[in-house]
Amino acid sequence: MEKKKKSGFSGSLGFVLAAAGSAVGVGNIWRFPYLAARDGGGLFLLVYFALVLTFGFTLLTTDIAIGRKTGKNAWHSFSSINSKWSLLGKLTFLVTVIIMTYYLVIGGWILKYTVVYLIGNGNSAAEDGFFTNFITSEYSPIVLMLIFLSITAFVVFAGVEKGIEKFSKIVMPGLLIMVIGIAIYSLTLKYTDSNGVTRTGMQGLAIYLIPNFEGITFSKFLGILLDAMSQLFFSLSVSMGIMITYGSYVKKDIDLNKSIKQIEIFDTGVAFLSGVMIIPAIYVFSGIDGMSSGPSLMFVSMPKVFSSMGFVGNIMGVAFFVMVLFAALTSCVSIMETLVANIMNICHTSRKKATLGIGVISALSAIIICLGYNVFYFEYKLPNGIVGQLLDIMDYISNSLLMPLISLLTCIFVGWVIKPKWIAEEMNIGADKFHKEKLYIVMVKYIAPVIMSILFIQSTGLLNKLLDMIE
Ligand code: PFF
Repeated sequence: MEKKKKSGFSGSLGFVLAAAGSAVGVGNIWRFPYLAARDGGGLFLLVYFALVLTFGFTLLTTDIAIGRKTGKNAWHSFSSINSKWSLLGKLTFLVTVIIMTYYLVIGGWILKYTVVYLIGNGNSAAEDGFFTNFITSEYSPIVLMLIFLSITAFVVFAGVEKGIEKFSKIVMPGLLIMVIGIAIYSLTLKYTDSNGVTRTGMQGLAIYLIPNFEGITFSKFLGILLDAMSQLFFSLSVSMGIMITYGSYVKKDIDLNKSIKQIEIFDTGVAFLSGVMIIPAIYVFSGIDGMSSGPSLMFVSMPKVFSSMGFVGNIMGVAFFVMVLFAALTSCVSIMETLVANIMNICHTSRKKATLGIGVISALSAIIICLGYNVFYFEYKLPNGIVGQLLDIMDYISNSLLMPLISLLTCIFVGWVIKPKWIAEEMNIGADKFHKEKLYIVMVKYIAPVIMSILFIQSTGLLNKLLDMIE
């Protein structure tokens, strides 16, 4: 029987850039800088960097090694190791299904702003109500979402090496150049407001970098730790089957230790530079108090900053939104690829049919999310205190509930059922040595499960109630 060649990355660079493409996304640009500004600047940075080197390394290593060792995507990898744990694979599939629905909608919004700046209409994007008017309009968000989905599907349809790898090799270096360029420009900014107060980009940088310990209590520090932790999951795209799928495309002669280090550096580097790009710019033109997180940072605060810059603002706006578009596309490609790879295996079907099927289902569900801002509008208070619509509910279920739960179960599975040696064996293939084996064992068996449990309890809102009772 003719054996079909398994698709995969051509080499280490292709893998690292594709994985970094998945990791670097809107999370780096709209969440990281905000958390850093809110959680004590340099203090948050220190905590985050420490977590990347410990938790980030552990979770990324686990996912990628499981993928390469089993050669299977998330749905089948866990069941192929131990049939009793097949539910874990299915849970990861569920997370990607949920994320896909709303990531597409956000992708459509980014595309809209990219077009607005490209046609030189940036000032209108800075007007009050522009963003709300746009997302609550009936057709435009749906049409842009569908275009964003078509680009994503086109790349996935072209396959792992010819689509995802090639696309990442073009887009990721471009993204890096743009982040560095805009960050440098941000540092040169200077503005005197109507009260005669002059603020500079370098002052904004100091706010970002210098640790602020003012008013730090134990529960505040715990809050910062948990913020950094949940940011880390989302940012590294771990615990959602994506890195398992990408790991299954990596050849055995590649040193995973090196690749993992490079992915971490890329992702953390872009997150850090996004802070250098955004915090000084917002500080100079609006003072840091006006900084918000999530969509309003990118779609409301940044356009106002660009409009205060005058003529250059439109050019910076184009560079900024093209960069965000690149980041969102490569992340969305990784989500769709994971879904397509799973469906190809489950239904024994071709890439073409799987991409088409997933494309249609994702389009329909994303349309429902778009309609969550008009036809299906309602307000719902989530356990973490956020009042949100359909998109926020999906985000809460996937990021706050399922991701910590999957991480917790994966660590228990690796630490106590199959044992860390199973992972260490894979990390030694194609490498001199798995240097951080001892750290990995302690993390995966003891530290990670405890912290993941706390994170999970926090997401349900119970932890804050407990802390309130203590204080
Ligand atoms: N890691 C991406 C970010 O930081 O924006 C987000 C992401 C990509 C989340 C892929 C989920 C995912 F499946």
